Amino acid sequence: MAVSKKRVIVVGGGLAGLACTIKLAEEGVGVDLFSMVPVKRSHSVCAQGGINACNDIARQQGYSEYMHFDETALGGDFLADQPPLLEMCQWAPKIIDLLDRMGVPFNRTKEGQRDLRLFGGSLFKRTFFAGATTGQQLLYALDEQTRRAESEGKVNKFEFWEFLWPVIHNGQCVGIVAQDMRTMQIKSFRADAVVIATGGNGLVFGKSTMSVICTGGAASRCYQAGAKYGNPEMIQVHPTAIPGEDKCRLISESARGEGGRVWVPRKPKDTRSPNSIPESERYYFLEEKYPKYGNIVPRDIATREIFEVCQQGLGVGGGNMVYLDLRDEVKKRGRAAILHKLEGILEIYEKFVGTDPLDEPMKIFPAVHYSMGGLWAGFTKDPKTGGLKSGDPANMMTNIPGLYAMGEVSFAYHGANRLGANSLLSCIFDGLFGGTCIKNYVNDAAPVASTDVAQSAYDAVVNQETEKQNWLINNRGSENPYALWQEMGKAMTENCTVVRYNEKLEKTLAQCQTWKERYKNVRLSDTGMWSNQNLSFARATRDMILLAEAILKGALMRNESRGAHYKPEFPERDDANFLKATIATYDAATNSAQISYGPVDTSLVAPRARTYGKKADSMSAAKPTQSSGTSTGGVPASASV
Ligand code: FUM
Repeated sequence: MAVSKKRVIVVGGGLAGLACTIKLAEEGVGVDLFSMVPVKRSHSVCAQGGINACNDIARQQGYSEYMHFDETALGGDFLADQPPLLEMCQWAPKIIDLLDRMGVPFNRTKEGQRDLRLFGGSLFKRTFFAGATTGQQLLYALDEQTRRAESEGKVNKFEFWEFLWPVIHNGQCVGIVAQDMRTMQIKSFRADAVVIATGGNGLVFGKSTMSVICTGGAASRCYQAGAKYGNPEMIQVHPTAIPGEDKCRLISESARGEGGRVWVPRKPKDTRSPNSIPESERYYFLEEKYPKYGNIVPRDIATREIFEVCQQGLGVGGGNMVYLDLRDEVKKRGRAAILHKLEGILEIYEKFVGTDPLDEPMKIFPAVHYSMGGLWAGFTKDPKTGGLKSGDPANMMTNIPGLYAMGEVSFAYHGANRLGANSLLSCIFDGLFGGTCIKNYVNDAAPVASTDVAQSAYDAVVNQETEKQNWLINNRGSENPYALWQEMGKAMTENCTVVRYNEKLEKTLAQCQTWKERYKNVRLSDTGMWSNQNLSFARATRDMILLAEAILKGALMRNESRGAHYKPEFPERDDANFLKATIATYDAATNSAQISYGPVDTSLVAPRARTYGKKADSMSAAKPTQSSGTSTGGVPASASV
C-alpha cells in the first residue's frame, strides 16, 4: 500500500506506541516515532506476568470474552467506561493470535497449546505468558515489526528525542516540539495527528516499580497545554515488590498465579527464619480471609491486606515485609517446572536480595506500580455491539482534536483498579484499534492538514520551549531538583497511596504549593549543552509537581472508597455521589489543577458489591487503621521511598 501524504507522530516506544505505529504503517500512513530511550528499553520491557484473553481452552472451562469484560469492570470498581472495555476484551483472543504469528515465544503445554496461568481477580486460567518476561518478549516482537516498516520507508524513528510540547493551532494538534537529547537541539515536527503513548507517572511517588523515565512528563505537558486528565487519584500499589534503595523491583503476580502463598508468622515480631516456622504457625491471611480467591484477590485488596498485617505487627520480624512462598509448588512440581515459568523474576529476586527464592520464601512489600488515571480519552459506542464504533476518529482521542492517548498514559479501561495482565492487552488494543481510527481522522476528519499550517505556529512553540530551557540553565537558585523530587515522592507515598486521610491529603496539598514555589529556585548542576540529563530531569520535576497536585486534589475530593482509593473516613463506595470520573484541567492563570467530574458509561453491566468471597467474620480486617502499627497511612517510607 502506498504511504499517504498524511503523517502521524507517535510519542513513546512501548507496546502502545509500537502497536499503533505498526497499524498506521499497515494502513498506509507514515509515522514519525519518538522515544526518550531506545524503544527496546521502554518500560513495557519490565512487564512480567502475562496478557489476558479468553481462548478456546478457557472457553471449555466456561470462560468467555464477556466474563473477561465483566471481571475487568468489577476489578476497576466500575469506574471505567464500559464500551471501550468490552471492545478490548472482544479483541483480546485475536491479539494473542497475532502476537503468536509474530513469533512471541509463549509458554506451551506438553500438548503444544499456548499455556495459561491464573492471575488476580479471576478464577479462570486466562493469562498467556512467556515465562516471567512477557513484556520483553512482546516488545521485542513489536520492535521487529516496526523495524520492518522502517526498512520499507513507512516509519522514521527518533530515539533519544524528548517530547516537549504539542503544537496546537486553532485548537487542533498539528505536531510537536521535541529535543534531541544528544545535541540538545529543539525542533518542531509537523503531524496530522499526534499519539501520546508515554506510560505512567510512578516517579511522582519517588520510588516505584516503574522505570526511572516514568515521570509522566509528556502527559503533564499535554495537560498543561489543555488536555484533560482523568481520574488522577487512581494509582495502583502492587502487592509484591522488593523495596530497594534506588527503586522498587516487581515480583510478578504470576508467582501467586503459579501457586505462591503469602503468609506471615502468627506470632508477632517472630524472628525465626521462615524455614523453621512450622505450617501451623503461619498465617496465610489471604487464603483465610478470601477462601474463594485466596492469593489471587485483585491487587488493591491484596495490598491493603498486606499493609494491615504489617500494621498489626505481624510483618516479618515485626517490620514491613511479608513472605511470598513457592516451596509448596517446588515440592509438588519440582524446581525445573517452576523455573520454566518464573525464572525471570526468581533471578531478579536472587540478584537483589541474595537468597534463592525456591529454597527460602521471598520477603516482599507493596510498591507503587501503575497509573490507572491519565489523559482523558473519548470513544464512540456502537449501539449494535455495545463496544466501540470501528474506525471512528473519536476513539482514543483526547479533548484536543488530533491528540490521541494510548496505553498507560490514557485513563481508559482500568477504572479505580487494574487487574493484573490487562495492561499489556490495553496497550496493544489501543494501538491496533486506534491506528485505524487515526487513519480515518487524518484522511477524512482533521479540520486542517498540517502542511497548511503557517510555520509561525511551530516557531512559537520552539521559542517557548527554548525560553523555558534558558531559564532552567541560567537560574541561580538553591534548590536541587533531585532533592525536591525525593521530598515530594516521600510525601506522596506516605500520604496518598494505600490509605488516605483527608487531613494528610490537605497537608500534602499545602506542601505541594511550596514545591511549586521552591521550583522557582531550582538550580542545575550541569549546564552543558550536550546530553544534559540534569536538564531533562529538572524540567520533568515541574511536570511531576503539577501532576502531584492533580492527584492530591482528586483524592481529597473523592470522599468514598473505590478500588485503589481507600479512605477510612469514607470506607464504602458511594455510587450516588462518586460514580463519576474525576477530570483535572490545568488553569494556567493560577498554575493549578481545577477538578470537575464527567460521566462514566456503565450501560452494559450494573455496578455491584466487590466482595471476592470475603469471609464475613473477617470484614473489619480489610480496613487498615492509622493507629495500630508501624506506618502512617501510605506505603511506609522505610520500605519504598
Ligand atoms: O505482576 C505482574 O506481573 C504485573 C503485571 C501487570 O502489571 O499487568
